[in-house]
This record gives sequence, structure tokens and C-alpha cells, in this order.
Amino acid sequence: MSEEATKVIPFPRRRSPGPGTARARKVIAVGGGKGGIGKSLVSANLGIALAGRGATVVLLDADLGGANLHTCLGVGQPTVSLSDFINNRVARLEDTIVPSGIERLGLIAGAHDGLDAANPRHAQKTRLLRHLRALDVDYVILDLGAGTAFNVLDFFLAADLGLVVLLPEPTSIENAYRFIKTSFFRRMQGLTDPGVAEAMSVVLSGRDPTARTPWDLVTRLRIDNPAGATQLEMLLGGFHPWLVVNQARTRADHDIGPTIAAAWKKFFGLELGYLGTVGHDDAVWMAVRARQALLTTAPSSAASLGVMRLAENLLALDR
Ligand SMILES: Nc1ncnc2c1ncn2[C@@H]1O[C@H](COP(=O)(O)OP(=O)(O)O)[C@@H](O)[C@H]1O
Ligand SMILES: [Mg+2]
Repeated sequence: MSEEATKVIPFPRRRSPGPGTARARKVIAVGGGKGGIGKSLVSANLGIALAGRGATVVLLDADLGGANLHTCLGVGQPTVSLSDFINNRVARLEDTIVPSGIERLGLIAGAHDGLDAANPRHAQKTRLLRHLRALDVDYVILDLGAGTAFNVLDFFLAADLGLVVLLPEPTSIENAYRFIKTSFFRRMQGLTDPGVAEAMSVVLSGRDPTARTPWDLVTRLRIDNPAGATQLEMLLGGFHPWLVVNQARTRADHDIGPTIAAAWKKFFGLELGYLGTVGHDDAVWMAVRARQALLTTAPSSAASLGVMRLAENLLALDR
């Protein structure tokens, strides 16, 4: 390895000028129904791509059960990690940021000890989210764990932008759909008016002939429960996950994102975005085996170009 490659680049504590505006979707969560679908690949390399475009970025390994984001970046297990913050050994989250070896990109390594860290209590989660928001950077990228546990969903929902990674296979599409639906239902638990919550569950079960979608319910509530209508409107309006199709092989694989978004819109009347596609590429597993970041070791591979397009599309959302 060259001296240049091993040089540790300190992570700047100051926010850079550039993409970090008040409008920037700062906290980005990368989720999806299952493990092994490319969440860490997308998180790590999206972070590198955004940093390459001049943004300051912190990657947080929020896979509280199977943290391995550091390996995707090609760095060893850092001595300080999220565990230290969750277990109060470190008072400030920013003190757990370690250099990633890439300019402007910092890493908060995943928790690797203690049940408490793998399953943070509500107060710990709230504290973590508060500190995340306070980080002085343009973007924070959360690499989420697999499954639909509340801890995963709550981080997904707390983000400004939630990405759902899926593979172009029926099983993976079902999982992604389930992940989106479960997180939507979790979000609807924020409805504090019991009457609205009940009406909403009837709509979602398809048993309400007067309201086919949640938006029809908003229209109806405006007349007899304006406060309930406003709350439901806010919860619905803020729910807008973005799909990322990984391991695409055929032309048709690239159309899967828009097809899923159209189905979601048809059945629920809600918007899903499509951020883009990353092709299936041997460069990915080769990079993992070499413990190197894909974008660093194979920047012109098809998968790298796919991730860079994701970054461009993401930056375009904030323009
Ligand atoms: N686009 C791709 N092309 C080829 N292999 C891939 C691709 N994306 C992921 N993989 C393979 O899948 C493995 C799991 O990816 P990873 O990002 O760790 O998934 P997750 O974080 O969702 O568990 C990678 O180590 C790699 O071998
Ligand atoms: Mg992972």
C-alpha cells in the first residue's frame, strides 16, 4: 500500500461551504427489509461520492447487531464506537467520529459490545438522534440493520431522506414493500387522536367505501375534525421513501423502481421516489474481499458509476 493510501486524513469538525444549506436533507437513512442486499455498500460509497463532491459527511454504522461498515470503507475496527456513546463512556457523539481515510468523510463505527448497545432504550435513541442532528456536517448517513424492528424503523423514520435498497427479485421486492408498509404503519402510530387512528386503520384495510386512500380521509376529516386532518396530513406528507435497486443485471431491472412506486401510489395514494440503480458488478465483491472501498479501488466500475449517479440525484433534490 502506498504512503498516500495509508495516510490518515483528519476529519474536519467545521461544516464546509457548498451543498450544506438549510434545505439540505442532512440525515439520510439506508434501509431495506433484509441483510445482504447492499445497504452497507450503498451507505459507504454514497458517503464517499458526496465527500468527493465537496460535502462533509459522517457515516454512522447503525446496524446495531452486525456492524461492518468500517470494512466496507477499508478501515480496521476503530477503538471508539457508537457503543461508547450509547453506554455514556463518551458524552458527545462527535467524539466518536474517526477518520475514514477519505477526505471530508468521517465514520462512527458500529456498536460491538453489550446488549444495551444492540437494543437502545427510548431515551438513548432520543439522545442519539439529538446528537446526530447537532453534528456540524452536511450529511449524516445511517447504515441501518436488517429487519423491521422498531429500532430500525425509528431511525429510518427520523431521517430526512429514507432510502430503501432492494434487489430486482420477487422475494426482495416483497421484503422492500413490507419494510415500507411497516415503517408507514409505525409512522401512523404518531396519530394521537384515537378516532383518527381508528379511521385510518379502516382505510388501510380497504374496508372504507368513502375513503380509498389516506388522502381521502384527510379530505373527509377537514370538515368534522380539522386538527386531526392537519396531523394526518403532516404524517402522510413527510413519508416519502426513495427506492434504490441494487444488483441490476438487465434493462428491465432498471424499470423496477418506477413500477413499485406506481403500485404504491395506486394502492395507497402515496408517493415513493426512485433514486436510481446500481448494477451487479464483480468489482463489488472483489473490493469487499480486498477490504477496500469500492469507489476508491474501482472508481470507474459500473457499480461505482451507479453509486455516483445516486449521489448526483440526491444532490439534485437539494438544489
Ligand atoms: N452491486 C453488487 N454487485 C455484486 N455484488 C454485490 C452488489 N451489492 C452487494 N453485493 C454483494 O452482497 C454483499 C452484501 O452487501 P452489503 O452491502 O454488506 O449488504 P447489507 O449491508 O444489506 O447486509 C457484498 O459483500 C457483495 O458481495
Ligand atoms: Mg450492512
